[in-house]
Amino acid sequence: MDTPTIGILGGYGNVGRHVVRLLLQHTGAPLVVAGRHILRAREFARECNRQVGDERVCAAYAHPAEPGSLRHAFEGAQLLLLASPTGRFAEQTARAALDLSCDWLDVQFYTPKLEALHRLRARIEGAGRCFVTDAGFAPGLPALLVRYAATQLEAVETANVFAVLSPQGGFPKTPSLYEFARELMRCRYGAYRDGVWRFSSGLGLGEARQSEFGFGFGARTCLPLMLEEMRALPQMLPSLQETGFYIAGFNWFVDWVGAPLLYLAGKMLPTLWVRPMANLLHWTTRLLATPPFGAILRLESHGWREGRRYNLVLQLYHPDPYLFTAIAVVAGVLQYLRGEGRKTGLWFAGHLYEPVGMLHAMRQMGVQVQEQLSPIQGACPFCGR
Ligand SMILES: NC(=O)c1ccc[n+]([C@@H]2O[C@H](COP(=O)([O-])OP(=O)(O)OC[C@H]3O[C@@H](n4cnc5c(N)ncnc54)[C@H](OP(=O)(O)O)[C@@H]3O)[C@@H](O)[C@H]2O)c1
Repeated sequence: MDTPTIGILGGYGNVGRHVVRLLLQHTGAPLVVAGRHILRAREFARECNRQVGDERVCAAYAHPAEPGSLRHAFEGAQLLLLASPTGRFAEQTARAALDLSCDWLDVQFYTPKLEALHRLRARIEGAGRCFVTDAGFAPGLPALLVRYAATQLEAVETANVFAVLSPQGGFPKTPSLYEFARELMRCRYGAYRDGVWRFSSGLGLGEARQSEFGFGFGARTCLPLMLEEMRALPQMLPSLQETGFYIAGFNWFVDWVGAPLLYLAGKMLPTLWVRPMANLLHWTTRLLATPPFGAILRLESHGWREGRRYNLVLQLYHPDPYLFTAIAVVAGVLQYLRGEGRKTGLWFAGHLYEPVGMLHAMRQMGVQVQEQLSPIQGACPFCGR
């Protein structure tokens, strides 16, 4: 069978261009790269085709506000990959994908899109389509890492995931930064502890935790950021007593001035504040950027194995956060193309993909992985249980 065509909306953006290059390297799929600027799409497609010495990539114009343009651009594709900050158009885009009999994979940090996708769930299932949402670094990997712990331990009791994100040169001022700023303004702070989700009314400082990151990043204080993919983990893994996703600050200015402003802006006229807050993130992360750079996800977990308690610590690192995100996405696409990552329905990426295979594929694509399994005597050194 021929490898199916994959359409990538936003395929020449920060994440998209890495996704395209990795798909060219690791699959034989023909690709359609689309966005609002056909000239940029064409130029990138030409550059890719020159590099691979083949006409694997073609370019098209597409804008989710014009569903006809999506149908025209992605006619014949089997998978539509959304690497564009267009979560606000999720419903129109998903309907276009269904009209095209296309599966779906989005890399968008934009929580309201989940409601739109849920509204289409019956239609997705009825059509036998596979819709995967929230792929990438985070969201995308935290729930998968907790599920990974469950493959190594017979009963996982705690599994917390910590992240640090430090892009060299700061966050670029591209359309996705507005989406990111808006998401930080609306996010909830909380974690699962002793059988209940505990949410904080403020910035979650009461639930802040320290984690000792490797790769030169050292100890960082992290806040518990609620990711939707984490919510179902206690049902999926009944032995779990504690889980959460914790993110480290970006720099002293964002932590002490930016974070409270983002929180307050999220409470008062948030749409007015998106642009100033995105600018604040851009300039402060650019001007105050200091090494080390890159992104880390660190899983701290404990549970039982052959009648003994063990700690499992896993760290994933890549010097380029955008490439790291693209690698996580493409590792999922590889499972999709093999069939094991394609199931009818609407899924979080962190729930659908098989964790051991994902880690293996990500390692092969350049993510550094450190893993340590050690027996515990007494209380767990991380959570104190
Ligand atoms: N899960 C994670 O870990 C993770 C990490 C990083 C990013 N993300 C998400 O990934 C997505 C892409 O991020 P990015 O930094 O790569 O974005 P970006 O560089 O700002 O934009 C990506 C692409 O989207 C296109 N685009 C923007 N608006 C569009 C529209 N209305 N219609 C069609 N195309 C449009 C842009 O091209 P034109 O402007 O020419 O149209 C560009 O090619 C975002 O949603 C971001 O939140 C997720």
